Amino acid sequence: MGDILEIISSRKSIRRFKPDPIPDEMLDKILEAARWAPTGENYQPWRFVVIRDQETRNKIGDLAKVGSGSRMTAWYCLGHMQERFMKIEDPVKRAEVLRFMYSGEVSEFAKVAPVVIGVLGSLQVGSVDVPYDLSAAIENMLLEAHSLGLGGCWVHGPVASSRDAAKFKKILKVPTEMSAYKVIAYLAFGWALEQRRHPRPKLPLSELVYWEEYGKTSRPKLPLEAIVSYEEFGKREKK
Ligand SMILES: Cc1cc2nc3c(=O)[nH]c(=O)nc-3n(C[C@H](O)[C@H](O)[C@H](O)COP(=O)(O)O)c2cc1C
Repeated sequence: MGDILEIISSRKSIRRFKPDPIPDEMLDKILEAARWAPTGENYQPWRFVVIRDQETRNKIGDLAKVGSGSRMTAWYCLGHMQERFMKIEDPVKRAEVLRFMYSGEVSEFAKVAPVVIGVLGSLQVGSVDVPYDLSAAIENMLLEAHSLGLGGCWVHGPVASSRDAAKFKKILKVPTEMSAYKVIAYLAFGWALEQRRHPRPKLPLSELVYWEEYGKTSRPKLPLEAIVSYEEFGKREKK
């Protein structure tokens, strides 16, 4: 089997897209990847609404812009945004970035992504595991898209509040009873208009992992006979 870590560690969120469409075969593969995700009790509570229609994507983009604009304006008023973008030295550039953020334009990108996928958790077949199941399916889709050379972004902010989730359901004509579906997120996919060359920096394992008990950061030494190299293990497997 190939090492999937290369695909996992080179993925990054993409929010700017070329107008080129996504071929059906690729879209099918992305959806297929979702289907194989792990799911509590094998309930498979995921349902997907694939949206290519420009008008529908515009509505989603507008929903995201309004919500994001008001959230970011609040952060701007609290000074958080200015702090976050302090490292941009050019004041004109910094002002433009801030405007892009607090206007909500930063979240409008469903309009330019050739495919948006609404991700719904069925509360009829699912259980308390619904958000976890759906998150596993989402990650599978993002990784499959990336392995195909496509860019994608997981978007939750614009559907996080129940009011915005209800608006999203209305746009997609999803049944609105509380017990039917939970809107988990939507995903934007397309061909990347390159934003960043590298993935965003991630914390090193040394800051994330404890060994044997919480707080222990040093890895315990295994007895010599228990140490098997990766190559050696491969050889044993083949025997
Ligand atoms: C649960 C979740 C919610 C997210 N919601 C949004 C969102 O609302 N808007 C957005 O632009 N990106 C969203 N993202 C993408 C993150 O901003 C992105 O994953 C993060 O900045 C790390 O960057 P990377 O994906 O390039 O590694 C979300 C990601 C996750 C996992």
